[in-house]
Amino acid sequence: MSNVKIAGIGAYLPSLVVTNDRISELVETNDEWIVQRTGVSERRISEGENTSDIATKAAEIALERAGVDAKDLELIIVATISPDMFIPSVACLVQSNLDADKAACFDISVACSGFVYALEIAKGLMNSMNYKNALVVGAEVLSKVTDWTDRGTCILFGDGGGAAVLKQSDEVGLIKSYLRSDGKKGDALTIGAADIDTPFSKEKVLKDRVIKMNGREVLRFAVSAIFDGVNEVVKNTNISLDEVKYIVPHQANYRIIKSAAEKLKLGEDKFYLNLDKVGNTSSASVPIVLNEMYEKGLLKKGDKIILVAFGGGLTYGSTLLEW
Ligand code: UT7
Repeated sequence: MSNVKIAGIGAYLPSLVVTNDRISELVETNDEWIVQRTGVSERRISEGENTSDIATKAAEIALERAGVDAKDLELIIVATISPDMFIPSVACLVQSNLDADKAACFDISVACSGFVYALEIAKGLMNSMNYKNALVVGAEVLSKVTDWTDRGTCILFGDGGGAAVLKQSDEVGLIKSYLRSDGKKGDALTIGAADIDTPFSKEKVLKDRVIKMNGREVLRFAVSAIFDGVNEVVKNTNISLDEVKYIVPHQANYRIIKSAAEKLKLGEDKFYLNLDKVGNTSSASVPIVLNEMYEKGLLKKGDKIILVAFGGGLTYGSTLLEW
């Protein structure tokens, strides 16, 4: 098995900033409630850019930083729950935008855990297919699947994308992942797809094509998902949590991170957060945070980091890596 390392990271956020005050013009809420219950102050919202546009912009930055020409890319995986359409996949749209003609391309649907899953899938394919590189993207335009009349959900989410270029390497990179799901709890967080309403259907099956969430249930699940994800990924390694410089969690809710940190008996400062300015961007959230940390110069070569995410499915997962 050869090592696989993140060689470049990038992110792109739409320029429109939507504050809590602006949201409170749409639904019965206020800035104080949203900040206290979630930690979110503002989010970026697309004014028309679709998921593939955002994914492409994030990818271009990651490719440049990795020193990889798109023409040489061998694999593109996009994690998303808000694709432009059923087909083509966002990954194929990105391939076309980038002229990455050699790459194998597909999307994965793992909600907020998507980027973490995609890293491990890419690593596996790089080994089995001997791909020298891969582009892994998490990108979402959640605003198009948000119910803007539901104050329980529309306060949380934002749009954006993040990307990582992976390369085979002589140095240690992605060390270990832990990926789990709990499909029996799937009803806690859903977005419906196409209706069944055909000349052959016995009855119509109609779905809401917007986010429906049991916030309390997801909140409880999330705290134990972070706890398990962080502990399991260091288990049976010679790396202790003390040696881990940062835990980079999916940016869902400040209260989730605070409770998870207490349960893990770790200081909150080990968890890097940017949800106050970005909100919950589902699969994009982990790479957007990583990109911010990179741009702030917080990630030094050799630093050990844990990525941990959870969300619809329900799914969760973590990755231990060396930067
Ligand atoms: O990517 C993973 C996806 N999702 C998550 O991680 C979400 C996890 N869950 C959460 O973040 C929280 O459950 C929420 C922020 C969504 C909600 O917070 P909560 O503390 O669980 O509130 P709640 O749903 O239990 O509601 C408490 C009260 C209710 O009023 P009553 O029944 O006590 O009178 C709600 O109607 O707060 C009310 N409420 C609001 N009030 C003002 C719910 N949403 C709002 C709002 N503004 N936006």
